[in-house]
Amino acid sequence: MRADIMRTTIVTTLAIAALLASAAAMAARPAIDELKSRVVLDDYEANVLFGYNIVMETNKYAARYAGNGLNCTSCHLKGGTQPDGFPLNVAGVYPKWRSKNGVRNGIELRIRDCFLYSLNGVMPPPEAPEVQAVAAYIHYLSEGEVIGKPPAGWGVPTLPDTGADPNPPRGATVYARSCTPCHGKDGRGTAAAPPLWGPDSYNAGAGLNNVQRAAGFIWANMPVGNERSLTHQEALDVAAFLHLQLRPFDPREGGLKKLAERVYHRISTWMGKAER
Ligand code: HEC
Ligand code: HEC
Repeated sequence: MRADIMRTTIVTTLAIAALLASAAAMAARPAIDELKSRVVLDDYEANVLFGYNIVMETNKYAARYAGNGLNCTSCHLKGGTQPDGFPLNVAGVYPKWRSKNGVRNGIELRIRDCFLYSLNGVMPPPEAPEVQAVAAYIHYLSEGEVIGKPPAGWGVPTLPDTGADPNPPRGATVYARSCTPCHGKDGRGTAAAPPLWGPDSYNAGAGLNNVQRAAGFIWANMPVGNERSLTHQEALDVAAFLHLQLRPFDPREGGLKKLAERVYHRISTWMGKAER
């Protein structure tokens, strides 16, 4: 009998302790709006708020490193809080080996990379206050996540093989029907949405310039207000259409070399045609 009572007491105590601990954990992460309203912020909180502002309005708060019409939240949706929309609660999975550059990447390098490719801007030095602030914000978003375990909804969904190749002409039809209202006929963006191609978009080296990944993003998150309404094939087709559009070149490939290749390609196709 006594053993039973003791066991119940222990279980109850543990349950209360767990509840208190989770309440404490929740209290440890004040909402952004609450941080904004505080008169005094400690160093960490000030950095979290600065990082949040950079993610939401990159062109205003990190202007010296930004290079196009996008903000981090254009792809890391809802300030990096949207599962399946490249969420940023990822501190626990870094550092991580990456084939793109063949080294273990810390979170700072990932942030700097997105400035260079996705923002088509300048790669900030690791110690730039902007990089440190975004790292603090990512740390803040990652509170409560398990180290070494990817968060729920990491990245974007990988679409299953549809059995048919992504088809750009079909994608152009999907684009005209479902995307022009916000992104514009010419893909340059409108007041309602950022550009998808052209000089003010992400460059050819960006992570989104990949048909499979863009298709997963588009399927799960576009059109805004009508998400997951495209079929997998439509998402792949429209991603293939986007992939063919002109955008700033990959900064890893010299601009002049690229231009020379294009001219050479044009001339040789033209000569090839002329000979036939
Ligand atoms: C054009 C869309 C786009 C924009 C804008 C963008 N990113 Fe990214 N970002 C991506 C994609 C796509 C990936 C995943 C790429 C990969 O795995 O190769 C990524 C990955 C990341 C990661 C690693 C996340 C993970 O899941 O492991 C971080 C951190 C990051 N970006 C930060 C930023 C910051 C900070 C900004 C703003 C300065 C930014 N990104 C702007 C598309 C974008
Ligand atoms: C109702 C408006 C709306 C429609 C329709 C829409 N989008 Fe978007 N899209 C947005 C907004 C807004 C963002 C930026 C997200 C943010 O800032 O919250 C965005 C972001 C994007 C991005 C990443 C950022 C960039 O500019 O590269 C891609 C890619 C994209 N949309 C593709 C599409 C495709 C493809 C379609 C059609 C299937 C589509 N969208 C339809 C509003 C829309």
